[in-house]
Amino acid sequence: VRLKERSYPIRIGRGSLATLPALLAGRGLGGRAVIVTDSYLRGRAAREVSLILCEAGWSASLIVLPRGELAKSFAVLERLYGSLISARVERGTPLLAVGGGTVGDCAGFAAATYFRGIPLVHVPTTLLAQVDSSIGGKTAVNHPLAKNAVGAFYQPVLVVCDPQILSSLPRRELLSGLAEAVKVALAFDPAFARWLLRHWDKLLACEPAALERVVRVCAAWKAKVVAQDERDLCGARQFLNFGHTLGHALESATFYRHFTHGEGVAWGMAAALALSQGRGWLTGGELSLAVALLGRLERPAPPKGLRWRAVLSGLRRDKKARDLRAVFILLRGLGRAEAVDDVTPAELRRAARLSGLALLGTNR
Ligand SMILES: NC(=O)c1ccc[n+]([C@@H]2O[C@H](COP(=O)([O-])OP(=O)(O)OC[C@H]3O[C@@H](n4cnc5c(N)ncnc54)[C@H](O)[C@@H]3O)[C@@H](O)[C@H]2O)c1
Ligand SMILES: [Zn+2]
Repeated sequence: VRLKERSYPIRIGRGSLATLPALLAGRGLGGRAVIVTDSYLRGRAAREVSLILCEAGWSASLIVLPRGELAKSFAVLERLYGSLISARVERGTPLLAVGGGTVGDCAGFAAATYFRGIPLVHVPTTLLAQVDSSIGGKTAVNHPLAKNAVGAFYQPVLVVCDPQILSSLPRRELLSGLAEAVKVALAFDPAFARWLLRHWDKLLACEPAALERVVRVCAAWKAKVVAQDERDLCGARQFLNFGHTLGHALESATFYRHFTHGEGVAWGMAAALALSQGRGWLTGGELSLAVALLGRLERPAPPKGLRWRAVLSGLRRDKKARDLRAVFILLRGLGRAEAVDDVTPAELRRAARLSGLALLGTNR
């Protein structure tokens, strides 16, 4: 990721975890590290990282966060600062975030703020974190009133993605990460969209070579976009939000309990496609490729009783809204994303209905 003095490498490859000590040394780090992980990974990936470091003569302390979105709370963050202080973590001690996007976001924010910043290394263990959240420097915890409301841009000094770690991912988490890959394919890279469709079965079977290719392509796109628009100031980075406007609103209207992030984004992409189609922006061939790819993702039905009105009010609270008007990323053709802020409620309701999203109030 080319960001002048904040540039950093993303090392991707099967077995790359074993080279962690050398990679850290290459970034001028050595001796001591603190590993932050979650309760599920403490005996798995985090233990492996710890053993690799210890065998190379490092000393490593381990801090364990709760699993899932709960990790991104003020209470957990406060305990994390306490553990860093107790472990006598110093300004130059690297913090290794070993986990999915939740560990990465919370540990990343702690690294950004503890002693005004200590070196951060991401070792992402979910597909979603390898293709997306570990790259680009967004860190955050949730406020009870809004997700990701308190955070910082803080770039890591190194990202290490070992696709072998992904073999234990449950299918639902795998699909959640694949939704971000489909996003990259539709918004930036039609050739990659065709490749994904051809290799879908291998991806679902967690074939390491296929997963590695996905991580490489997505990481390269994300690195390029972040280098152009590090702080997401309405430039290239907003196109990474394809499918996310409605996706976030669905996640928030269901209190982050019903959909995985990828499932929300899959619904959002389906609606964004219908919006693009409604404006006559896609050819028949483009639409059928996109629909085929989206059809491979799972889009669970929303909970009974969820009202369209609740989703709309979530849209207005979106961080990206301009003067309270939601910004949608549409496609003027595959690989040609465009931001618009003139989608009317009626147009959106129609697109939601066409994409199969049945909520109370979408049928009017
Ligand atoms: N910072 C960013 O740019 C960015 C981008 C996208 C998403 N996010 C954030 O990422 C979070 C979601 O991340 P996630 O989907 O990785 O969720 P997660 O971190 O909660 O991980 C999902 C589940 O998978 C388990 N897990 C992790 N690695 C595993 C492995 N190798 N094998 C088996 N199980 C494993 C975890 O214990 C957890 O239960 C959200 O909070 C979202 O806001 C951040
Ligand atoms: Zn996302």
